[in-house]
Amino acid sequence: MKKIVIGITASIAAFKTVQFISNLTKEKDLDLEVIMTPSATKFVTPVTIQALTKKKVYVDVFDDDYDSIKHIDLVKDASLFMIVPASANTIAKCANGLADNMLTAAYLAATCPKLIAPSMNTHMLEAPATKRNLKTLEEDGVVIASPDVGLLACGVTGKGKLVDYETLRLMMDYAMSDHPLKGKKVLVTAGPTQESMDPVRFISNHSTGKMGYAIAKAAFILGADVHLLSGPVALPQPPLISFESFTSALELYEIMQKESPFFDYIIMSAAIGDYRADHIEDEKIKKKGDTLTITFKKNPDILAYLGAHKKDHQVICGFAMETQNLLENASEKLSKKNADMIVANSLKTKGAGFGTNTNVATLITKEKVEPLDIMSKEELGFLILKKCKELEETTC
Ligand code: CTP
Repeated sequence: MKKIVIGITASIAAFKTVQFISNLTKEKDLDLEVIMTPSATKFVTPVTIQALTKKKVYVDVFDDDYDSIKHIDLVKDASLFMIVPASANTIAKCANGLADNMLTAAYLAATCPKLIAPSMNTHMLEAPATKRNLKTLEEDGVVIASPDVGLLACGVTGKGKLVDYETLRLMMDYAMSDHPLKGKKVLVTAGPTQESMDPVRFISNHSTGKMGYAIAKAAFILGADVHLLSGPVALPQPPLISFESFTSALELYEIMQKESPFFDYIIMSAAIGDYRADHIEDEKIKKKGDTLTITFKKNPDILAYLGAHKKDHQVICGFAMETQNLLENASEKLSKKNADMIVANSLKTKGAGFGTNTNVATLITKEKVEPLDIMSKEELGFLILKKCKELEETTC
């Protein structure tokens, strides 16, 4: 269970925090405690928040109800202290060590990671004092969820909009991580390829991109500099991660030839079509006989290309999705393509495969075959990256 202390300050965006808290309450491994500044209670009431968390919301340091010194007690075993939204006033107090209310006192007492999501009028945000204060907080090790540009409540269009939930959620995990991959450049390919046959049709596969997207997010949380290359998928583009899309295997091959030398870990989770149409018709193929024959030719094997051009600092990880002879086929791919690791999974195993939220994988390296239990694709993403780091430390 992770205890997350959420501070709410007096900003119009406080109404969004109500929805954020509602979303977070659905995560069973989070224990939420909420503190509001007295002025924040003019924007949303503690009763609203209490109805969601089913817990007391703390506002007053000197409340008669307390059985302990609350501002100390609340934060002593917290995994994260976040202020969402953070007003210019509270940012100024936190940057300067003021402890004049429950929120700022608890902030000062907290030794856990901290995340601040400012939201205010553009001029207030860009005032030299606020900029100075945010810089101070950053130097103190606080993660700042920089506000977005948009139409603000004051009628001005500019920077100051509270970050969206997806971004905040990713930043929460980032703030709680100790960033073991800091300084590492990680390239992840995800999703299927589409190989056109005529202007209206293509051949593809059932890959949804979930595994690759989970790896990219895990790499970001672990502090890496991540680039996600994605085939056509229905998933939303992950926030904060450098992103580029591809459609065909040839397109991905071209990108990889240019970009791959600059990355330390390359994780090829994309389901790349082995063949493409020998000829893409200029006009739509019309229905004629009872059967249709199309000739396909082989696509370049990108993982094999990466293995053949491997730099000393690189760890290259491929995937093998099989329907039979999983370990034999996957081990053959490891040596044939000169990869450092193959993540093998069988389409026939319950809990593995396309579109599922879980996977059942075996990590195959030159030294070891490591079967793993069923786990979420997110958890597997972290394990794959951990293994890449170990491989780098032992082989590079
Ligand atoms: N791969 C690749 N280029 C291709 C085909 C696959 O880089 N043209 C990569 C995939 O991203 C994956 C790994 O190779 O990491 C294994 O892909 P898979 O399709 O299972 O293997 P193949 O070598 O194509 O063998 P087969 O289809 O016969 O199983």
